[in-house]
Amino acid sequence: MSSVWILCGKISYEVERVSEELEKLGVLHSIFSWNEITLPFKGENLPRVVWHRYDPTVSMVFQFCVLEEFERQGVYVINRKEAVENSDKASIYLLWSKYLRNHVKMPDTLVTRDIDAAVSFLKSHRRVVFKPLASGRGLGVQLIEWNEFAPKLLEELLRKYGCIFLQKYIHNPNYDVRSIVIGGRVVASFARYNERDFRHNIHCGGQGLKIEEMGRVSKVAFECVRVAEQIAPMITEITGLDMYGLDLLPGIDNSVYLLEWNAFFGFEGLEKTTGLNVAREVARYIALKLGERR
Ligand SMILES: Nc1ncnc2c1ncn2[C@@H]1O[C@H](COP(=O)(O)OP(=O)(O)OP(=O)(O)O)[C@@H](O)[C@H]1O
Ligand SMILES: [Mg+2]
Repeated sequence: MSSVWILCGKISYEVERVSEELEKLGVLHSIFSWNEITLPFKGENLPRVVWHRYDPTVSMVFQFCVLEEFERQGVYVINRKEAVENSDKASIYLLWSKYLRNHVKMPDTLVTRDIDAAVSFLKSHRRVVFKPLASGRGLGVQLIEWNEFAPKLLEELLRKYGCIFLQKYIHNPNYDVRSIVIGGRVVASFARYNERDFRHNIHCGGQGLKIEEMGRVSKVAFECVRVAEQIAPMITEITGLDMYGLDLLPGIDNSVYLLEWNAFFGFEGLEKTTGLNVAREVARYIALKLGERR
């Protein structure tokens, strides 16, 4: 029986790459789908380490129950459930407010079910970004400008998503910086540039650029990496995340804003843009945790 399990939905680029790098390190591992898991475990040979990937088609409660049960059985779970719960967009803002506000800026944010509160927030900022609380790839993220139709739009969004998350729009030089943090350390960063969509995500047409390339035309790219390196260990400590993707946004005034951290991050765009081996870093971290549990 394998000492490491990769638990996932579909076999993504990330799963294939990490599996490949584990293989190279000689770490015995198996890939399981969430569909193959039945609780309670009945005397299975459980692994010592689980690296799991969120599957949006599987009940979140079920996924959390599985992670909890692994943890109860003494399995090291990457990322552990409590840390994942510290990574939705509302929690990120609230954690930033309590622990990080003296270290990095974050755009003014409101999370509510009160339409009047949402309308007055929009009126005061004129232009805001709506985000679903848990999403990815820029899905559902949209710009809202204040006008007479805006209250109706906010009502529709409340009905659809059950909650309104609004964030002040920050004028920026058409890119953001994504860093991958593993064990509290930034292992790789790249810029995502998009002139066509205010969302810089690769899935929204963003183009990946090395930090040196981006920094040649916009120096604040280097400052984003410096800030990422400074706050990465703090976020690790606050959240308990073993690894995460960190998104920072430069403003046109050269200040750096925290946008979010992602407990489940893709790294295809980053590896292909920079040539850096993120999967090897993930695999080494898994091997390290495995070594600690022998
Ligand atoms: N407050 C803001 N001001 C300006 N642009 C923003 C703001 N918030 C988000 N954006 C843009 O929208 C993109 C998507 O936003 P965000 O990263 O918060 O959502 P996401 O859907 O979770 O994306 P990811 O796939 O990175 O998890 C950002 O990468 C950024 O380009
Ligand atoms: Mg993002």
